[in-house]
Amino acid sequence: MSADTQVAIVGAGPAGLLLSHMLGEAGIDCVVFERGDREHVGTRLRAGGLEHGAVDLLRSLGLGQRLDAIGLLVERTDFRFDGRGHRVDFKAATGHNFTIYPQYEIVTDLLAAHAARGREVKFNTPVTRIEGLDGERPVIRYEEGGAARQLNCDFVAGCDGYHGVCRPAIPAGVIRVYEEVYPFGWLGILAQVAPPSLEVAYSCHDDGFAMSSFRAPEVSRLYLQCESDDRAEDWSDDRIWSELVRRLDVPERPAVRPGPIVQKSVTAMKSFVIEPMQYGRLFMAGDAAHIVPPTGAKGLNSAMADISVLAPALIDFYRRGSRARLDGYSAQAMQRVWQVQRFAADMCRLLHRFPGMSDFERRMQRERLAYMTGTPTGVLTYAENFVGLPFDA
Ligand code: APR
Repeated sequence: MSADTQVAIVGAGPAGLLLSHMLGEAGIDCVVFERGDREHVGTRLRAGGLEHGAVDLLRSLGLGQRLDAIGLLVERTDFRFDGRGHRVDFKAATGHNFTIYPQYEIVTDLLAAHAARGREVKFNTPVTRIEGLDGERPVIRYEEGGAARQLNCDFVAGCDGYHGVCRPAIPAGVIRVYEEVYPFGWLGILAQVAPPSLEVAYSCHDDGFAMSSFRAPEVSRLYLQCESDDRAEDWSDDRIWSELVRRLDVPERPAVRPGPIVQKSVTAMKSFVIEPMQYGRLFMAGDAAHIVPPTGAKGLNSAMADISVLAPALIDFYRRGSRARLDGYSAQAMQRVWQVQRFAADMCRLLHRFPGMSDFERRMQRERLAYMTGTPTGVLTYAENFVGLPFDA
């Protein structure tokens, strides 16, 4: 098939770079387009943790060295409600850890692997338009150094995040969009201080959800449920710390250790899925196709799970000339996507204070938490979802 490249990948987030790496290793020619610069992509503060399936995938690709050296293993979640902590030992329940290894570290590893193999990523190169998706040779129109250019390809991978250009290139009526917007936001902070313990704590408090986590031994990451329209600058550092302590701390185990806040921002909370995740010669993956509320730490893992289905399907096409696996990509990937959506939405409903919640609903929340943390079935259900469903679902 004559084309300027075989697979055009839009977006150099974890989804796009992982796909490019896997296809490159299989000898498939790709071009990665990224509208941001290298610094932007490699330092963005996004997701922070990996399921065991994601860790296994990175190791199997020879990308596990730094991950194994600096990734921090977590074995338990500490749920705080009724004024005390309730630990769920997911390692004991499933045999698997959760690994704190931030998105920027994965992107750093993937960019280093690209550089070592002489594979280019086109930074500062926005894709402006995609044409011919239902034909034999899609055309990517892009801007490079102020000039409009184009490239032909066999396939397009839409790894361009929620605000990308690939999803709008699908004709109206072809995909179904599912969306749920939650009536609150998360105020997230990054603090230059060691967390009191290497445990993740989730709190269901009368004044709203709070969470404490970390990104590195000396870097804490904490969140507070806030109003959707709150601005980060409206929250003083003192107010943030006192609210975190009030919602999260219990006498036996502090989860909060105040320190210098180096970053704060408010995130909107939504669930979003398109179905199917493909059209003609376009295959969507990661945030471009689905968003989860961050409760449950699934966004990055879900993006990687998509690629673990898409890359072998593309490789199969080039090795055997069969489109069967590509044609089945969305159906296969979506099984896991929806299970992840279920878990993230359930966790969101379980832990937040919703406007207008009745006393009965509030009590049900408490009873669900008591069941989930206090019975073997509840613990196992949480544990197997949190450490991650299999990648080859
Ligand atoms: N042209 C080129 N690049 C684009 C364009 C465009 N028109 N539009 C968007 N991009 C780039 C963005 O600049 C971004 O770097 O696509 C990339 C998409 O990357 P991510 O948003 O990180 O999405 P994804 O790779 O799917 O990773 C999902 O992001 O939000 C987290 O929780 C989520 O960790 C998960 C991860």
